[in-house]
Amino acid sequence: MPPPLVSRHPLVLHKLALLRDQSTEPRIFRALVRDLSKLLFYEATLDLDLEPVTVRTPLAECPSQRLAGQLGLVPILRAGLGMADAILELMPTAQVWHLGLYRDHQTLKPITYYNKLPARPTLDLAFVLDPMLATGGSAVAAIDILKGWGLTRLKFLALIAAPEGVETLRQAHPDVPIFLAALDSHLNADKYIVPGLGDAGDRQFGTTC
Ligand code: PRP
Ligand code: URA
Repeated sequence: MPPPLVSRHPLVLHKLALLRDQSTEPRIFRALVRDLSKLLFYEATLDLDLEPVTVRTPLAECPSQRLAGQLGLVPILRAGLGMADAILELMPTAQVWHLGLYRDHQTLKPITYYNKLPARPTLDLAFVLDPMLATGGSAVAAIDILKGWGLTRLKFLALIAAPEGVETLRQAHPDVPIFLAALDSHLNADKYIVPGLGDAGDRQFGTTC
């Protein structure tokens, strides 16, 4: 069970500070989520499978490589949407499968409200995307659903995690590598990540739920 990969890239650290800042407005917040998602995706894809291909340049044939297998993005609604949009720009052939989960405010347990996965899995590798890994309930529930669908190869990407969420996810799904921009201190009594950034969905979309 490898530990989560926490990026130390200077660009990630710089943009993370701006993302956390309570004065960052939704328009800038969304742009930062996009930038950070692409940087994190770069780190999470170093081991992608490749297959040989030959292309013809204007001068000669050139032995090259291309990505092998069908890759997929699974944003957890709603806050994962911004991550998926950004990553899709890097990997436009990815399939995107949405899962709708929210944390019930009383029980703090995840409630699934949207799942339109077809009967058979269509992916070789899926990247589950959610900016926040707090208690880990939503991530575990999403990966339970995806494994139940038949997926065997998954990676989980979050911008900020609490140690409690990482532990819960690693215990439930030790085979799923975790990639983070930051691993924070702890959860508060309301199970918000400290120092965190507040509510990732509200900050992206300018709402107060
Ligand atoms: C947030 C976040 C995660 C979840 C993390 O979503 O985007 O999905 O909380 O918390 P957990 O690790 O304790 O499950 P939220 O429930 O606020 O829904 P939203 O994206 O619709 O705002
Ligand atoms: N969900 C969020 O958006 N933020 C947190 O700190 C915890 C859960």
